[in-house]
Amino acid sequence: MNLSKVVVDDIHYVGASDRRLALFENIYPIDRGVSYNSYLVMDEKVVLLDTVDHSVASQFYENVYATLSGRTIDYLIVNHVEPDHAAMIGDILEKFPAMKVVGNQLIIRFLTQFFGSKIEERAYVVKEGDVLETGKHKFTFVMAPMVHWPEVMMTYDMTDKVLFSADAFGTFGALSGSIFADDYEFDKEWLDDARRYYTNIVGKYGLKVQEVLKKAGGIELKMILPLHGPIWRKDLGYFIGKYLTWASYGVEEEGILIAYASIYGNTENVASYLALALGERGVKNIHMYDVSKTDPSYILSDCFKYGKALFLSPTYNLGLFPKMETLLLELKAHLWQKRKVALVESGTWSIQSGKLMKEILSSLPEIEFIGEKPFTIKSHAGDDMKSGLDQIADELVK
Ligand code: FEO
Repeated sequence: MNLSKVVVDDIHYVGASDRRLALFENIYPIDRGVSYNSYLVMDEKVVLLDTVDHSVASQFYENVYATLSGRTIDYLIVNHVEPDHAAMIGDILEKFPAMKVVGNQLIIRFLTQFFGSKIEERAYVVKEGDVLETGKHKFTFVMAPMVHWPEVMMTYDMTDKVLFSADAFGTFGALSGSIFADDYEFDKEWLDDARRYYTNIVGKYGLKVQEVLKKAGGIELKMILPLHGPIWRKDLGYFIGKYLTWASYGVEEEGILIAYASIYGNTENVASYLALALGERGVKNIHMYDVSKTDPSYILSDCFKYGKALFLSPTYNLGLFPKMETLLLELKAHLWQKRKVALVESGTWSIQSGKLMKEILSSLPEIEFIGEKPFTIKSHAGDDMKSGLDQIADELVK
């Protein structure tokens, strides 16, 4: 059944959602699924903007052919070559033999790597500021390297003031009931997934995102059409504001994150004591995670959200507990920064975990550690340790 929707005038949504996939990029859990957005502009020349993941190919084709109503596609604009959007390009080239493939030089090179020399024969190479007229519409191109791959560009429709924003302004989550963000309670239903998507997918490239936001600030925007998640036609400033905060590694909300690893419960006991101590000091927004239970993508997202974090970990095989090491290496890989951090280490002999946690986090910009050294728990935390732990709570609240 055709599930395409009109976005505005002759711009149509022809993408589809996948609710079966367990792990996006085979790494990030997506309990709410994900949408792969593709757009068809039915101008004098017909333009398709990006394709979809092969998992939703049949729905995509059903939407495309129904919208075309017997017409053909003249141009395929490719904003991003990652296969969740570009997987169908080899196939769609066969189906529409006169169609040109529009992209910058790196896009054409990457597409050739994926699909062979037939791409070069069909290429229409564009650069920043070039204009493609298709009748009523005039498309121009905004380069957006590293948001999220180096070839990425965005396409701006100067006629309708619409930005096809590639991965930017996307989110995990299948579309359920509407293609528009303003038809949902985005804050409640989507924001956590949008933050987890941003921080895990492009979080490392905040400076590049800032550069693109600066360019976007200079153009009139009526709509943002991302490659994942709902379309923005109202309240664009709200979501752009979130991006400005995330891209600059700013604090989105006051709060304290506690991430702990605990093998037999002794370190968890200390984490619980510190959570209570923070609560007694008036902290309202405390979020505790057992790193063995919660996927690191969720914890990393909250690390970007809040301004302060407390990490507690036992020593394991003379190293760092593996699940904690994974989380901290993820933070390092995503260039997490500008945060206040307290560390608690534990173990029975050769305690190393505090030093190892600090080594990883010290490589990140503007991490302020509480105390000269991590706080040490030898085997079990007794009441005699309360004053030392209280001091950590006091410093975190400051
Ligand atoms: Fe949604 Fe970077 O691909």
